[in-house]
Parts: sequence; C-alpha cells; structure tokens
Amino acid sequence: MTDTTLGAYNIADLRDLARKRLPRGLFEFMDRGCEDEVSLRNNRSVFERIKLKPRVLNDVSKREQSITLFGHQQDMPVAIAPTGTPGIMWYEGELALARAAKQAGIPFTLATTTLTAMERIVDEVGGRLWFQLYMYADRALSRWIAERAKNAGYEALIITVDSPTFSNREYNLRNGFTIPMTYTPRNIADVLSHPRWMINVWLRYLVEGGLPLFENYPPEVKARVKAAPMGRAMKLNDALDWDDIREMRKLWPRTLMIKGVLNPADAAMAADCGVDGVIVSNHGGRVIDGAIAPIDALPLMLDAVGKRMTVIVDSGFRRGSDIVKAMALGAHAVLIGRATLYGVAAAGEPGGTRALAILREEIDRVMALIGCRSIAELNRALLALPAPLTIAASA
Ligand SMILES: Cc1cc2nc3c(=O)[nH]c(=O)nc-3n(C[C@H](O)[C@H](O)[C@H](O)COP(=O)(O)O)c2cc1C
Repeated sequence: MTDTTLGAYNIADLRDLARKRLPRGLFEFMDRGCEDEVSLRNNRSVFERIKLKPRVLNDVSKREQSITLFGHQQDMPVAIAPTGTPGIMWYEGELALARAAKQAGIPFTLATTTLTAMERIVDEVGGRLWFQLYMYADRALSRWIAERAKNAGYEALIITVDSPTFSNREYNLRNGFTIPMTYTPRNIADVLSHPRWMINVWLRYLVEGGLPLFENYPPEVKARVKAAPMGRAMKLNDALDWDDIREMRKLWPRTLMIKGVLNPADAAMAADCGVDGVIVSNHGGRVIDGAIAPIDALPLMLDAVGKRMTVIVDSGFRRGSDIVKAMALGAHAVLIGRATLYGVAAAGEPGGTRALAILREEIDRVMALIGCRSIAELNRALLALPAPLTIAASA
C-alpha cells in the first residue's frame, strides 16, 4: 500500500520537507514574517498561553467535526486561506491545493496574485470556491477582477483590507527573492542548489509554455512572474475607505467577507456595510509587526459582531488543538495558510491532503480528550485563558 503520510507526522515535518525542497529565498518568502517578526512569533506562542480544561466520562465514542458555514455543511471547521504562491511552490500548485480542499470537503480560496486562471479552478476542480481580491490604485481593475470571479461562479469574495502599502520584509531584500522575480547571482545559485524544485517546477513551466503569468490580472496589466512591476495601476490602494466596501457590496451579490480586521470597531463598520463575514487576521504576521494575535482579538470581535455576521480567524494555526481552542472561543471557522502551503510545497496535492489529514486527526483526538463529540459542544468553559483573554471574554 502507498504510504500517504509522506513521512510527515505533523505540520512541522511538512515544513521541514518544504524547506529542503525549495530555494531558500522562496522558502523564506513563504515561511517568514516582517521586520522583527514579533507578530509571527506571537501568533504561535499565544496558543501556548491558552490551556485546555478537559471534561471526562462523557462517552466520546461518536465524534464528528462538521460545521455549517454560510449555509453549507462542511466536513471540517476550516477553509484554505488565500496565498499568492502555491503555483511557484509546486507546478500548478493552485490546482493541487484546490483538489486537496475539495477532497477534504472544505472551501478553497484562490488569491488574486496566483498563476492559475480562476476559470480553470472551476472547470478542472470545482468544489466550494472563494476568491480573494486586493483593491488596487485603479479601482476599475479590482472591479473587473470581481466581475470575472462572479461570472466564473465563485461562491464568496474576500476583500483583503490589511495592506494599504507593501510590508517591510528585509530578508527578501537580503536573499534577493522578489516578485516579480529577478535573476541575481545569489538566487541563481540558490535555485541550482535545489534541483528538485528547479526541474519539477521552473523548468517544467518553461517546457510547458514559458514562465507562468499572473493569470487573474486584467489583460492590460497581466505579466509573467519574471517581468517588470505591473505599474501604478496595480499598486495597492492606500486611499481605500468604507465607501469602497459599500460599492463592492453593491457589485457582489453573494457572500462578501473582509479580511485583515483586528479591531472590533472595524468589525462593527463591516457589519453596518452589509458585509457577511470578517476574517480576524494579521496576515500570518506578514504585513504589520507587533500586531495583536488574532486569537487574542477574537473574543472582543465576537462580542461586537458575532451575532450579526460570520467571524472567521486565521494566523498561526499549526495544530488541531489550535483550531479547537479557536472554535471553543466561539469562532465560526478557521482559515489555514502556511500549514497547507507547506504540504503543497513538499509534495503537491498529496502534501496538501496530508496537511489536512493531520489537522483532522489532531482535532478529532483533542475533541475526544476534552470530552466533546461535536464542534457545537466546544465552549469557553473548556479553556483556561490568560489574563487579557479572561478580561476580553467576560467584558
Ligand atoms: C506565502 C503567503 C502568501 C500569502 N498571500 C496572500 C494573498 O495574496 N492575499 C491574502 O489576503 N493573504 C495572503 N496571505 C495570508 C494568508 O491568507 C493568511 O492570512 C495567513 O497565511 C494566515 O497565517 P498562517 O500562515 O500562520 O496560517 C499569504 C500568506 C502566505 C504565507
């Protein structure tokens, strides 16, 4: 029988496999944070400060972890977060990750800055598909992309609002890895010393039709991954305000979420604008350093809008127990970013599938150990919370 574990027994093992396979610059782009990486570290250490208070003797012989999200039942309490790079980590990595998500019965989010056309994901994979949008300086371009996602049949649109400007990632300057990609002696040496990635990803793209394009950009700005910057039109918009969200609400008839909200006042504004869901996120520690960990912000966010809209959380989730803690705090679902990206970078679709299988098994085991049969049975009484969360949860 084929070994589907890939020799990886937790997400950290998949990260190790990805680190060995990818050029260093690319691995750091996926793995690291920004500036002093305080947000990145805190996103993980916060989970160590939240402890479980198990209940025993509760007959946990029948367990399931399904939830209902935006009216759809799904098999796990997670969805795949938008990430711009699966297609650089693995040949056609976006298709691989979408297939892994479909097989696990969870939504997959395609990011704007990906290499696979959104229509191909619909035609070749299907399943529950969400699309993530950045709002660009030229608003017409963002509207064009949203219309296209609507016509392609995407179930939900996620507008990422935490990036009014580019973040400060000094390691990318040092290791020479930037998007659009450039050839420098350093990154050429980096690629040559990782032949599996060079042959199976880069050369394969070259053989199959040339370097890939950012397929979800409008035709007038579409460029290859190794091209000059796309110009002013595609610069991130630092003049966005809530009127832009109201405009998008009129344009997008299905589920609309905004991603990158950490302040309850903004969650309340989003609800007032008719947005269906907020994603409590610090972008995995990649855009602002020293930001509150989303899981720390979660109780106040739920108190502010939890009854009016869907509240999803991400950043730092690597273990099933992390997901159980978020669901016990009251989150409606969790987005998974790097955990599945490590899997795809390590082994394509089987790697993404393995990451989700690890999380599913870990959630199931923790639920049994704390005496819960379903996600609905999780609650704050099962948690010992550090002081700020205790205050937030009882506020
Ligand atoms: C390599 C990488 C690329 C990402 N690209 C995007 C993106 O294009 N749009 C977006 O909204 N978020 C993006 N994110 C952030 C994720 O959607 C998510 O918020 C984050 O990864 C969650 O943290 P985690 O990786 O610790 O799970 C990216 C994250 C990573 C690691």
